Amino acid sequence: MTHALMTDQLQAVLDHLDLNRDERIQRLDSLLRLPSISTDPAHNADVRAAAECCAEMLNASGIATEIRNTTGHPMVVGHADGPEGAPHVLYYGHYDVQPPDPLELWDSGPFEPVIIEGENGPKIVARGAADDKGQLMMFVEALRAWHDIHGSFPIRITVLLEGEEESGSPSLDPFLKANADELRPDVCIVSDTGMWDPKTPAITTMLRGLVYLDVTLHGPSHDLHSGMYGGAVVNPLNELAQILGSLHDADGRVTIPGFYDDVLETDSEQLAQWDSLDFDEAAFLGSAGLKKSTGEVGRTVLERIWSRPTLDINGITGGYGGEGAKTVIAAEASAKFSCRLVANQCPETIERNLKDWLEARTPEGCHWTIHGHGCNPAIHVPSESPWLAAAQQGLEKIWNQPGMLIGCGGSIPVVGSFQTILGADSLLIGFGLDDDRVHSPNEKFDLSCYHGGTRSHAAVMAAIAGVSGG
Ligand code: BES
Ligand code: MN
Ligand code: MN
Repeated sequence: MTHALMTDQLQAVLDHLDLNRDERIQRLDSLLRLPSISTDPAHNADVRAAAECCAEMLNASGIATEIRNTTGHPMVVGHADGPEGAPHVLYYGHYDVQPPDPLELWDSGPFEPVIIEGENGPKIVARGAADDKGQLMMFVEALRAWHDIHGSFPIRITVLLEGEEESGSPSLDPFLKANADELRPDVCIVSDTGMWDPKTPAITTMLRGLVYLDVTLHGPSHDLHSGMYGGAVVNPLNELAQILGSLHDADGRVTIPGFYDDVLETDSEQLAQWDSLDFDEAAFLGSAGLKKSTGEVGRTVLERIWSRPTLDINGITGGYGGEGAKTVIAAEASAKFSCRLVANQCPETIERNLKDWLEARTPEGCHWTIHGHGCNPAIHVPSESPWLAAAQQGLEKIWNQPGMLIGCGGSIPVVGSFQTILGADSLLIGFGLDDDRVHSPNEKFDLSCYHGGTRSHAAVMAAIAGVSGG
């Protein structure tokens, strides 16, 4: 197909998208109403309902889609043929969400979406609005619009929607391995990351990895009166607090032996590119209600979140947390903590070192139970490829500028699995913003991002259709 013809085809799709905005918000609303919390077995039926909702929408978009069972939550898999020899793109998103807790901090029901005015115009507020239902709906809607207008697609398409991303994707690798021949694309498009700012799109080329531990320190056989026993027996909460408190030194560095051994220093060229991005530190910190960044001394904020490993405690529980006071020595104390990892660090080694470090510090009279929640390495995707160049063309068409090439402090394990199991690289093209409150109460997605992102997926698809030799 000629370039001019493709441009006309795209324009017709963009015009259509501009005319059916309300309908597209309605469909997003219906998906957001389903509480598909993957980590909580009480919501298994809701997770399946969300899979069914996605499959129905894909089938209505010209993508032949089925729900495929796994030992965990189901996968939604769809296919559509493209012209002979056209590139094959796998679109990925996740239809599961994080738990909405703490519920009392929401201004409206987490699964009762509302559209209200935000800093950048109207926004839709609900759990999953930005992570990831709003983002997966952007490509689903771009595909639907293309199909509605032209009756076919300019590329060959596979869609894979997962329902376990927020709980560590246990079924994903086995599923990819079992279905590699069916799924293997030329390139994947992962719709689960952010923009640089509300007017500047981004393509993420670096993700951090993750190691997550859940630990409990057990002491006395049962809870004790803190007057009768206090001072004479071990208190697991006191001990755990001390141990957790020594995970960092005064310079903000993690004290686990070997933690930084394999970390590569960011080269000066990369640091210079990050400097040139004109990162608005005040706005970034302001979106968290803060003024000053904290972390490893001598590092910029972008280094701290994109290229340095971290350890953060995610939760501490134990003892009495109810109303008033209770004088008690609890029998056990628990914590959840996780490390974000960077390129070249081995997650299994870090996990081993963490466990050894804890065991070596077992207080007398205590023992640990330690449970790991998975190990994922950091990911780098090539920042030069014909796919990325095409994606940039598409983004430029919509935003009048190409995407910034950025890092991301978060983790998306599927990107590593696509590389190792399917042998395919990913384009991480997402439209979230730092102030979306993902994983937090009052999560939102700006409608300007939703519409711009949907238009972008159409434009990127058109540009990829022009890439040959896939
Ligand atoms: N979409 C996020 C990853 C992300 C976070 C991208 C921030 C861009 C900015 C994803 O859903 C997520 O939350 N991933 C988890 C992975 C974990 C559960 C294995 C994460 O990063 O904590
Ligand atoms: Mn996500
Ligand atoms: Mn998430």
